[in-house]
Amino acid sequence: MTYQGKKVVILGGGSGMGLALAQKIVNLGGHVVIAGRNEAKLQAVADRLGAAVSVAAFDLGDEAAVKQAFERIGGFDHLVSTAAELTFAPVLELTTAQVQAMLVSKFWGPFYAAKYAAPHLAKTGSITFFSGLAAYRPAPGASIVASLNAALEGFAMTLALELKPVRVNVVSPGVVDTPTWAFLGASDRQGLFDSVAAGLPVGRVGQADELADAALAMMGNGFINATVLHVDGGGRVA
Ligand SMILES: NC(=O)c1ccc[n+]([C@@H]2O[C@H](COP(=O)([O-])OP(=O)(O)OC[C@H]3O[C@@H](n4cnc5c(N)ncnc54)[C@H](OP(=O)(O)O)[C@@H]3O)[C@@H](O)[C@H]2O)c1
Repeated sequence: MTYQGKKVVILGGGSGMGLALAQKIVNLGGHVVIAGRNEAKLQAVADRLGAAVSVAAFDLGDEAAVKQAFERIGGFDHLVSTAAELTFAPVLELTTAQVQAMLVSKFWGPFYAAKYAAPHLAKTGSITFFSGLAAYRPAPGASIVASLNAALEGFAMTLALELKPVRVNVVSPGVVDTPTWAFLGASDRQGLFDSVAAGLPVGRVGQADELADAALAMMGNGFINATVLHVDGGGRVA
């Protein structure tokens, strides 16, 4: 598969799975626009990945900024959103501001992005959202994360009908070693990964590269549509 002459926009492309995907698309000859709120972080990534990467800095909760960003980007082939700002805490402790940030990154963001990207997306192109295992395996502290992952999957299935022939798919990761866990100290993080790994059939947590490969499969296969691909080490059945 080559991405020569193709342009891919990755919301959340400045870290974790989005960054791993950006690297792979560059290796396959494509152009990537990485988007997020932190322009300095995105620019540092772009400098590292080379001239085939450009940067778009905006907040997914800012509708006008999302619209403008897609107008500036112009025609492109694939949209991917790995964007997330999540807080894991019990309902009784979650603040409205924390829930708002989660809604922006995983509900309003995908809605605005789909709405304003659609006029610029190639008919042969695709949208890939990232949901997550929390929607399938309830865990204390993940109520809003579970809700938003489930909502995103429902949104994507309907979008596949409304935006046809553009394909719309979802990758649902299990626990993956990315900077999203950086809020935990190194030893707490390792403790979490070890305990998750012990409960998984594959005996380990995921790597960002593995999720990037899953997204590439969904983007590149023109008959995969309205599908949720679970890349969770068997977490749903464990
Ligand atoms: N890692 C896991 O264990 C795991 C498990 C299940 C599901 N997932 C899902 O998989 C996806 C990728 O996860 P990841 O761990 O690779 O993510 P990550 O490393 O935390 O990266 C998420 C990116 O989203 C961007 N972002 C957050 N809020 C934004 C906003 N309002 N506007 C624009 N950009 C925003 C951030 O960039 P800026 O700071 O520059 O804005 C950040 O680069 C996410 O949807 C996540 O929920 C992850």
